Amino acid sequence: MPAVPITEIASLECVPQSTGSAEVDRVLGGGLVPGSVTLVGGEPGVGKSTLLLQVLGGLAARGARVLYVTGEESAAQVRRRAERLDAVHPGLLLAGETNLAHILGHVAESAPSVMVVDSIQTTFDPDLASAPGSVGQVRQCAHRLTSVAKHTDTSVLLVGHVTKDGGLAGPRTLEHVVDTVLSFDGDRDHSLRLLRATKHRFGSTQELGVFSMEHTGLAPVTDPSGVFLADRRPGVAGSVVVPVLDGHRPLLVELQALVVDGRTAVPRRSVSGVDPGRVGLLMAVLERRVQLSVLHLETYALAVGGVRVTEPGADLGIGLAIASSATGRPVPADVVACGEVGLGGELRSVGGLERRLAEAARFGFRRALVPRSTPELAVDLELVRVPTLGAAVALLGLAE
Ligand code: TYD
Ligand code: MG
Repeated sequence: MPAVPITEIASLECVPQSTGSAEVDRVLGGGLVPGSVTLVGGEPGVGKSTLLLQVLGGLAARGARVLYVTGEESAAQVRRRAERLDAVHPGLLLAGETNLAHILGHVAESAPSVMVVDSIQTTFDPDLASAPGSVGQVRQCAHRLTSVAKHTDTSVLLVGHVTKDGGLAGPRTLEHVVDTVLSFDGDRDHSLRLLRATKHRFGSTQELGVFSMEHTGLAPVTDPSGVFLADRRPGVAGSVVVPVLDGHRPLLVELQALVVDGRTAVPRRSVSGVDPGRVGLLMAVLERRVQLSVLHLETYALAVGGVRVTEPGADLGIGLAIASSATGRPVPADVVACGEVGLGGELRSVGGLERRLAEAARFGFRRALVPRSTPELAVDLELVRVPTLGAAVALLGLAE
């Protein structure tokens, strides 16, 4: 075929179809594009099968014909789970199958609008000699399913397990094959689950879907900040609320620190939900730039609710939480803090401040400690501009 001027090429129609789940639709920018392939990655047990079974059940309830291929659990097990999830509808076809040839047969026979393959690691092409789950098999199966998606306009969702370090060969090697990569994660000990797109050919990767794992499956969390702050006890030293931004979505997260004199030669540090490196950096800055002696102390720091806060905008909050715990003086309950801390102790601005602070104002916070360079913002709370972490510590009366 000869090359043609781009002006003469018809543009690709890619109108997303709603999945029926507002949180999933939010992450996908409206829904699934017909003929697209989406990889749903996450650690085993996080809830991938649950999420996708719920989505298919919802689509079937609205009259769609959908196919769930299960290679991990038996069809009877999936049916049992579907009962709990209220996903039992005749339009939802189940196939307990791992053989790719048979799976393609099911697609040809039933012509589903949406299909889930759970998981890509258990699927194998009998024409290949390598074992199921090997890189060769995973790639080959994904390629074949991708071409079926394009030819039949079926939206294909592939489940892929990843280990904590992202190690497993399977899903990582697929990222360039598929249109969209979603990652589903959450802390096993908490009910919170977060859905994000890490690659999306049809839209932004900036949206965040929030769910809570309940007895009856995944429930949408429309107001995550409310969940994170629900059990907060104002007036306790070592607690600071930080407005973080996950993609476009602002979240209010409580950061807690507890420092104690452990009387050990090497003080213990235990950190969860925040970056251990940042905690170490902020302790060094407090010690050297704020003259607050903390480096010899045993330190515990966490983000409440099983959420992971990795952005530098949380620095000021972490620093204040440690300072507050060290001196035993609580940060006032109506204050939020946001800013990146440099090695000199100086505060740097972070993106999306207006959106973050609007969320804080919505939850009744009255004052926000922000970097000095912060411009005027149209938010309904008082901006308290501070040049350094030390100035913030002094302003809140946390200095020794
Ligand atoms: P699952 O969807 O099987 O995870 P994945 O497919 O990612 O491996 O979810 C497994 C966990 O979810 C399991 O430990 C039990 C829990 N769960 C609930 O809490 N409520 C439910 O309604 C369901 C179906 C599962
Ligand atoms: Mg599963």
